[in-house]
Amino acid sequence: MSDFVLTETRDAIATLTLNRPDKLNALSYALIDRFLELLDLIETDEAIRVVILTGADDRAFSAGADIHEFSQSVARGADVAMRDFVMRGQRLTARLEAFPKPIIAAVNGLAFGGGCEITEAVPLAIASERASFAKPEINLGMPPTFGGTQRLSRLAGRKRALELLLTGDVFSPERAVELGLVNQVVAHDQLMPAARDLAGRILRHSPLAAASILRAVTRGLNQSIAEGLLIEGEQFARVAPTADLREGLDAWIARRKPAYPGSWSAKAAV
Ligand code: COA
Repeated sequence: MSDFVLTETRDAIATLTLNRPDKLNALSYALIDRFLELLDLIETDEAIRVVILTGADDRAFSAGADIHEFSQSVARGADVAMRDFVMRGQRLTARLEAFPKPIIAAVNGLAFGGGCEITEAVPLAIASERASFAKPEINLGMPPTFGGTQRLSRLAGRKRALELLLTGDVFSPERAVELGLVNQVVAHDQLMPAARDLAGRILRHSPLAAASILRAVTRGLNQSIAEGLLIEGEQFARVAPTADLREGLDAWIARRKPAYPGSWSAKAAV
């Protein structure tokens, strides 16, 4: 079971690889459950500060939910399908969206359905020039269920999202950049170096500050600006008494590089 998501940790970066290449890394229930377990472990592992997420082999990032499996849940009735399929998938994307350490999707190939929804949910994404994206659920006669009707419309705007949702058309990585779904497109062999480079540029900074920024943006995004500003202030108040902020300020004033105590505590910035 653990092989469904491969993990490798180096230089404070955990790389998670969705690993069902013969099924285009389709998101089976066991894969999702293992993925959630690993996120729990990573959250409390102080040695890990950034996560890179990719797909095994060159063809796919992920072709989405495992259709054979959830088709059986649907056959058992709406309540079963809601519990086993919809709630599980929504739990995964919500967890990725709110994760207190930066997650970078390195989209190595096709990202259809749930693969696209994972990309929508994570805070940062880089795509290979070979990546392709689609919201193909309408081909199956259903709406997306892992947040795909909600996050893309917030990212790209209602009409641009609806065109993709209602047609199921495949779109390019360049279009994904235009829509705000990915940050940049790179040559295929530069995908992991680009993701590690982005991770490295984040790792220079205080992990507590990174967590507070992730929280403020993700929580504030769907609130009024007034509520968002309250969340921003609350995040600052939590960081204010920490050694990280003292070090950041002292280092700037002394014109030296900051050396953060490294006392990562995801909970400290909650
Ligand atoms: N769920 C389960 N299995 C999947 C899958 C999915 N979402 N996507 C691909 N696979 C499996 C195929 O069943 C096939 O397995 P098999 O060789 O044991 O039959 C294998 O992965 C390769 O896929 P295949 O369809 O043969 O590749 P292709 O190049 O002909 O087509 C796609 C590629 C992506 C167009 C096609 O696989 C597809 O439409 N997948 C479903 C995408 C989707 O609708 N996702 C949203 C689900 S809600």
